[in-house]
Amino acid sequence: VREITLKAGGAECRILVGAGFLEKLPDLLPRGLAPKGAVVVDGHVKKLAPPLIKVLAEAGIAAIPFVIPPGERSKSLANLEKLLRGFAREGLERKSPVIALGGGMVGDLAGFAAATFLRGVPLIQVPTTLLAQVDAAIGGKNAVNLPEGKNLVGTFYQPARVLIDTALLATLPERDFVGGLAEVVKYGMILDEGLFTFVEKNIAAIRRLDAAALKEVVARCVALKASVVERDEREGGVRAVLNYGHTVGHALEAVGEYSRVHHGEAVSIGMEAAAFMSMRLGMASLETLEAQNRLLRACGLPTRMPGLARREVLKAMQRDKKVRDGRPAFVLPEKIGKVRFGVDVPDDVVEAALKTVGGK
Ligand SMILES: NC(=O)c1ccc[n+]([C@@H]2O[C@H](COP(=O)([O-])OP(=O)(O)OC[C@H]3O[C@@H](n4cnc5c(N)ncnc54)[C@H](O)[C@@H]3O)[C@@H](O)[C@H]2O)c1
Ligand SMILES: [Zn+2]
Repeated sequence: VREITLKAGGAECRILVGAGFLEKLPDLLPRGLAPKGAVVVDGHVKKLAPPLIKVLAEAGIAAIPFVIPPGERSKSLANLEKLLRGFAREGLERKSPVIALGGGMVGDLAGFAAATFLRGVPLIQVPTTLLAQVDAAIGGKNAVNLPEGKNLVGTFYQPARVLIDTALLATLPERDFVGGLAEVVKYGMILDEGLFTFVEKNIAAIRRLDAAALKEVVARCVALKASVVERDEREGGVRAVLNYGHTVGHALEAVGEYSRVHHGEAVSIGMEAAAFMSMRLGMASLETLEAQNRLLRACGLPTRMPGLARREVLKAMQRDKKVRDGRPAFVLPEKIGKVRFGVDVPDDVVEAALKTVGGK
């Protein structure tokens, strides 16, 4: 088991990465937990809960399962209330652990509930999607959606532990796994040429869920995210680099009404668009752009979205909550492993980039 420590907001979060370490769980839990806690899952992941609940029982913790319907729509204030009232009814106390077993949806919802119940109870993230293992479970952000927009309400609250077991990915649908690889390529592009090269060389092993290759990739991504969060927990500066590919990506998701294109796919297309802008501005070479896109395709990700209405994408980009004064600040690559953030890109370059990814 690989261990990474994240220090932020006066707290210390221990992140453990391994394959099949559930049996060792009791040794990995924080000290002094109350004998009663909660395990939050969604309907697809609840099959993974019984072994976890059994191990917890052996460690003297009765964990009550809370099952949320799967899907992004469940990340709502209504479900937050259901969880909080359930915790109260079950008599959870200050030291009762809340265990989020699931993807980013469960992680964000249960994380918010843990952050606010009794003004904060110990949160343990056990992420079960690749996206959650390399991204959502790390960094202490949580949120729910409002009908008015995604992630509009939430807090910063560091989990006490993040237990990342790559063996949990075995049942994850292929499209979700591949989507998570977009974030992996993102980390390589923004911060770590060595990771990028490792993924290039081992993509076949990674895609067949080879334990050693996966552990290496996940642990490196986690360490990169942890180091960025430590430097900038509240997203005032350098944390912005994590948004590479997301400015265009979020707009594509919105234009596709959050169903046509999945998050990772949108980020992949967004990275192609950003690399194109960078090349057009003379910041990155054609080789950089091509190496990135070759790897994205080897991951099984799209870099194009034919038939996109460019006007719609531009409008959606201006509505993004990270936009100030109606002008998005882009994260653009200089070369593999190095990006610049806060770049103001001229409109004609943005439009040209959208054209290359399939805009009309
Ligand atoms: N807090 C953060 O910093 C942060 C960062 C990135 C994304 N997010 C959030 O994460 C969410 C997306 O996360 P996600 O992609 O993990 O989505 P998700 O949690 O909805 O999971 C995707 C699908 O996979 C299923 N699933 C999960 N694990 C499984 C497993 N092991 N086997 C079989 N099925 C499994 C889920 O039931 C769901 O249908 C979004 O709400 C996003 O806003 C948060
Ligand atoms: Zn993302």
